Amino acid sequence: MGARPNFMKIAPVIDALGALDDDVVQTLVHTGQHYDEEMSQVFFRDLGLRTPDVNLGVGSGSHAAQTAAVMAACEPVLQRERPDWVVVVGDVNSTLAATVTAAKMGLKVAHVEAGLRSFDRTMPEERNRVVTDHLADLLLTPSRDADANLAREGIAAERIRFVGNVMIDTLVRLLPVAERRWPETSERLRGLGRPGGLERGEYALVTLHRPSNVDGPEALKAIMADLAFLAESMPVIFPVHPRTRARLEAMGTADVNGSVKMIEPLGYLDFLSLQANARLVVTDSGGLQEETTFLGVPCITVRENTERPITIEQGTNTLVPPSGLREALVQALSKLKPRRREATAGPSIEYWDGRAGERVAAALTGALGGS
Ligand code: UD1
Repeated sequence: MGARPNFMKIAPVIDALGALDDDVVQTLVHTGQHYDEEMSQVFFRDLGLRTPDVNLGVGSGSHAAQTAAVMAACEPVLQRERPDWVVVVGDVNSTLAATVTAAKMGLKVAHVEAGLRSFDRTMPEERNRVVTDHLADLLLTPSRDADANLAREGIAAERIRFVGNVMIDTLVRLLPVAERRWPETSERLRGLGRPGGLERGEYALVTLHRPSNVDGPEALKAIMADLAFLAESMPVIFPVHPRTRARLEAMGTADVNGSVKMIEPLGYLDFLSLQANARLVVTDSGGLQEETTFLGVPCITVRENTERPITIEQGTNTLVPPSGLREALVQALSKLKPRRREATAGPSIEYWDGRAGERVAAALTGALGGS
């Protein structure tokens, strides 16, 4: 694991492997791609994730430099451990780097969250997904459309197992904790809401970090203007990813009129508490499209495409290109009522049920048949 979304995905796999009767020895390796307290350490506390056995400490860099640093640093670890399986999750540079290294050493690789495709090769994550899936031996998919994507690319069915969504495992486990945390979370963010404080179901939550949205000043400025427009109707809370913060600072205009409440990135529990109680989420994240679908929170995804179409077909997600954001917000504002948070309706998508980690463990130990 290396970057923020990996922590939520690996935690249920570690737990499920640890719960097996078999004597499974696990070595947890953190590449250090994300390293700030709020991008990394806080997740260990919130998720109850054990301290990594190895931290490669690679940090930031260009794509080539970061990927190469992970490859060079993980090779001796893999050499020493010679595991039966190298398990990688998601689509970040660390995922690609560990997979290439292990495959070159002849070690077996299992990819959790395999088969997702945006069909947009300009995205770094898409390139990482394609290479990882074609090198990995066992492809563990979150949804049936992912199986179909892999089959279309000529990957043999016996390498593919449909196991479900591990990110939802973590959400199912920690949602009750996050819900109980609402008084504390809202109190900490009191100044960001209306004069009486932050109210459940009355604010929008925003995250943005995709290069396509934040790396170009014009694109980012236009999105910030749209968010300021939204802030005329409801409080807008925006925990800002370091990549985005750097771009905003370079532009010199953090927020057109200060109406969008920009804060540091939050830990998992505070963020989940805010997400579960939001009236609307605006994002370009992959994970949030899934989590809002499970939570039943309306989500506007500001991208040209998504690798998670199931969240549109069966969930609460609406995909809009950046140029359509203003219109999508106008539409949403005309329809949205303040949300009353009900008990979660429960998973409506197959195998988004809190038990995907168990299926991953079963697949790794050979107990699971074909999908
Ligand atoms: C990475 C993943 C992306 C994932 C995202 C989640 C890749 C190609 N991208 O993007 O798929 O959705 O993580 O957050 O792997 N930085 C810090 N502190 C940190 C981490 C990063 O300041 O703890 C800075 C880096 O110095 C860099 C920028 O943020 O300037 C981007 O970090 P990087 O790891 O390159 O990719 P992300 O944009 O985070």
